[in-house]
Amino acid sequence: MSGTKLYEGKAKILFTTDDPNILLSQYKDDATAFNALKKGTIANKGEMNCAIASHIFQYLEANGIATHFISQVSPNEMQVAAVKILAIEVVVRNIAAGSICKRLGLEKGQTLNEPLVEFFYKNDDLGDPLITEDHIAMLELATPDQVSQLRKLALDINHHLQAFFEQCNLTLVDFKVEIGANYQGKLLLADEISPDTCRLWDKNIADPSDRIMDKDRFRQDLGKIAEAYQEVTKRVLAVKIPIHP
Ligand SMILES: Nc1ncnc2c1ncn2[C@@H]1O[C@H](COP(=O)(O)OP(=O)(O)OP(=O)(O)O)[C@@H](O)[C@H]1O
Ligand SMILES: [Mg+2]
Repeated sequence: MSGTKLYEGKAKILFTTDDPNILLSQYKDDATAFNALKKGTIANKGEMNCAIASHIFQYLEANGIATHFISQVSPNEMQVAAVKILAIEVVVRNIAAGSICKRLGLEKGQTLNEPLVEFFYKNDDLGDPLITEDHIAMLELATPDQVSQLRKLALDINHHLQAFFEQCNLTLVDFKVEIGANYQGKLLLADEISPDTCRLWDKNIADPSDRIMDKDRFRQDLGKIAEAYQEVTKRVLAVKIPIHP
């Protein structure tokens, strides 16, 4: 049957379509943090994140990155290629922030010598723990070949996203991506790229709290959350998508 709810997550609902290889991804206003211990809503987040993600997926596609994006079909809905999501969350960090500061004793805001790729086990019951390539092999989450593809894809995405957010006057501190295999086994960037999944700091603002333009405002109760998302939406949508990469 077409148009039935396939999965409801914390930020999006996936629906089937007439085509088994195409899903509808509907973005919600709900916001969660700390493995859903903290819950709330951000006014119009669904529409803002859908618009941001659509624009960024198109930018990345124009730069040669294969994504699940097909088209935006309403303010908070996009058609995407159905993929089998790998149970690995891939994080790329350019500047130390969040969990790595606690884990390795790094100072928040410290620029890393080169982008760092980390793998986390996508498993809410376990709190998405950090895993190594050996864990990935042991748990059979991906083949060694897929792991090297993931690493390369993540670094390529980082390269293009850094250039993208530079045009928005935002520093890309870090981000998380989910990657899945389509019906042909080809790995595609899936899920979403938005202020829910990226740390973005306003380059014009020096104050370490005031410059935060992402979900850390919600995590840390910094206020002006929807305002920050609105500002990111405005800047993101102003970036031109190259026709010839
Ligand atoms: N193209 C796709 N095909 C199939 N599943 C997808 C695709 N893109 C994203 N997903 C999955 O759809 C769900 C999106 O919902 P959401 O972001 O709300 O999930 P979540 O609450 O973060 O939970 P979790 O990721 O732990 O399932 C995620 O499980 C994500 O992995
Ligand atoms: Mg999610």
